[in-house]
Amino acid sequence: MSDKLELLSPDLLDEERPVVTAIAGLARELRVGLGWHYLLDLAWILRGLPIEPGMTVLDAGAGYGILQWYLSDRGVKVVSVDRSDRASVPLRFRSRYPVRGLQPGDVSTVVRSLGGEVRRGRPAFDSGRYARGVFERLTRSETRRKRGTVTFHRSELGRMDMIPSESIDQIVAVSALEHNDPQELPGVVQELLRVLRPGGSVSATLGASATHDWFHEPSRGWCYTEPTLRHAFGLPEGVSSNYGRYDDIMSAVRASAELRDNLAALYFRSGNNGMPWGKWDPQYLSVGVLRSKNGHEPVSSDDAG
Ligand SMILES: C[S@@+](CC[C@H](N)C(=O)[O-])C[C@H]1O[C@@H](n2cnc3c(N)ncnc32)[C@H](O)[C@@H]1O
Repeated sequence: MSDKLELLSPDLLDEERPVVTAIAGLARELRVGLGWHYLLDLAWILRGLPIEPGMTVLDAGAGYGILQWYLSDRGVKVVSVDRSDRASVPLRFRSRYPVRGLQPGDVSTVVRSLGGEVRRGRPAFDSGRYARGVFERLTRSETRRKRGTVTFHRSELGRMDMIPSESIDQIVAVSALEHNDPQELPGVVQELLRVLRPGGSVSATLGASATHDWFHEPSRGWCYTEPTLRHAFGLPEGVSSNYGRYDDIMSAVRASAELRDNLAALYFRSGNNGMPWGKWDPQYLSVGVLRSKNGHEPVSSDDAG
């Protein structure tokens, strides 16, 4: 796959129907609410991602997002990095997936809910031993043996000291890098490229703007122009882009009944999100950026601002 910048059109839903169906089904099963454009983002990323059991994929700004679980189901070793605190990862994830990077103390909530009632009144109850037992069972279950490990790291993407250089086969980022302002973004990309092995790629989806960089307050994310993304990812003019079709693709997104009619429940609960009060009114497009680690000049440290 060649490097590119690609605004995501709703045509992707039909072009990648089996993946779209699989992702939507997994999201229902795991009760993960998908952002309004996430099926486009995920279809685009997975279309270009070579997936092999045993390979290492860094999910940058993973949160509890669906892609890391989808990849683990396919035997991929996921390195899941986010600045947010995920010590209390819900039981529905850690009972099914081999989540690493958690400590026995993290299961205190589970111990309370599973053990508190049945053990009440037993004088010699050793809560530490019980917690370790629960932790072992949660992290070593037979049923999860074929799934790839999902190792959580709490870290800034711009400074991942715990990850050795050139140790990661591929990097994905679903609607995450846009939470970095245009001056910070090159530094984040530079750090992603440091940990990526030569020949690997960064596949990221971000918010896109036709005219100027602007901050979408409800989703607290940036929408970037083509020049800003070219600069941040070190993509020269020769690398293809369809930003010239911004207005056409925006019209297609606004007219997409499938996207409109499948808005996640989370949007209807508040006005403080990417689609306030669930009213279908897309304000920006999503853009996929593919940047391989070869060919182009690396993003220079001066760019990190
Ligand atoms: C909108 S959420 C998307 C989460 C996930 N990728 C998904 O598909 O649901 C964006 C996430 O990116 C993380 N993030 C953004 N920039 C980051 C940075 N510079 N360092 C660490 N985490 C970052 C945020 O903490 C947040 O959890």
